[in-house]
Amino acid sequence: MERKDIPEELKQKFIDLYGCAPDGLFFAPGRVNLIGEHTDYNGGHVFPCALTIGTYAAAKKRDDRKVRFASVNIRSSVTEISLDDGELHLDGSGSLKELGLGANDWTNYPKGVIWAFAEAGELLPSGFDILYFGNIPAGSGLSSSASLEVLTGLVLRELFALNDVKQQDLAVLGQRAENVYVGMNCGIMDQFASAMGREEHAIFLDTNTLEFAYAPLVLSDAKIVITNSKVKHQLASSAYNTRRSECEKALWILQKAAGGAEKIPSLGSLTPHEFEEIRGAIEDPVVKRRAMHAVCENARTIQAVESLKAGDLRTFGELMNASHDSLQYDYEVSCPEIDYLVAEGRRIDGVIGTRITGGGFGGCTVSIVKTDALETFQQVLSSKYMEKYGLAAEFYVVEAGAGAHRLS
Ligand code: GLA
Repeated sequence: MERKDIPEELKQKFIDLYGCAPDGLFFAPGRVNLIGEHTDYNGGHVFPCALTIGTYAAAKKRDDRKVRFASVNIRSSVTEISLDDGELHLDGSGSLKELGLGANDWTNYPKGVIWAFAEAGELLPSGFDILYFGNIPAGSGLSSSASLEVLTGLVLRELFALNDVKQQDLAVLGQRAENVYVGMNCGIMDQFASAMGREEHAIFLDTNTLEFAYAPLVLSDAKIVITNSKVKHQLASSAYNTRRSECEKALWILQKAAGGAEKIPSLGSLTPHEFEEIRGAIEDPVVKRRAMHAVCENARTIQAVESLKAGDLRTFGELMNASHDSLQYDYEVSCPEIDYLVAEGRRIDGVIGTRITGGGFGGCTVSIVKTDALETFQQVLSSKYMEKYGLAAEFYVVEAGAGAHRLS
């Protein structure tokens, strides 16, 4: 569907499916992270921006307790549940995955959000019908699941006038759904960017306090380009959870060595210099490298935002490159296809910086490319990549978009 036609077409499809007009139309974007990767569960900083692609929904309140979910993307039948069903009432014994229920079912994301709202005391007075449509390429690491969660939260708030739920709460409740209900231990970055994005701005977020500032994306004669490697980030969630526990282990060792948890509340609270002095306490070389990435990536992110503010795009690009190297070698969340795109990208004149973006193990790179080099960048990379891996890379020149909002 063409972007400008999506709301009208979705409305029509809702009418065809459910036999009546929706109460409203809604949108929540995906995100791209410019720098600050795997820092958001380490109390560090991130610097993402919302995209103009994302997930749309048409929804209508019902008079009974039924909830019906459907998606234009997944042409399967409608999934129907009741607000009183057991699966919406986890009793604390574990995530759906741990309980062996409904694994890999996309409706777990919206169900998880209903569950998270209920847990926060936001009970729904009745059920609803909803139809989704997403235009984020699947498995690309551009946060289609976070946009689905934030969007569902927005729909619940708007349909049922749950006015205590602030925009930022949509992010927190979306993350809660994903952590506890779906069983993916992600940080807050993706949901935060989706809920709080602003046109032409990136968000400098301290994930420890949730304090944030919008930074204008003034790139003068350059653009942000996302390159989709088409390598889907399968198995990413278990490897992701492993990285997270390795960081927790590192923190625990450092806290013990420093004589108390309050001395080092998170890896993000350490400067690279402080880490250097205490890193000897970590014996396992893998755990040490993971911690080093978390500490140094946080420092790079803070410095990158400073350099962007100062109009020093060159330093910003160098920090993006350093971020990739650290993710490739120390954090080990890249893959050969992405490393190839990054290495070849760096050889092209006019490429200011390029790195993997998002959780990793496939997905996309993000690059800052001079406007006059955009064509060469796409042509050279796509032909080399096709020759080497037989895959057709896709390129998106992106603008930062607005956070989740009601369309009508
Ligand atoms: C995924 C997670 C985020 C973040 C990134 C890595 O996108 O959902 O919380 O940890 O990976 O920076």
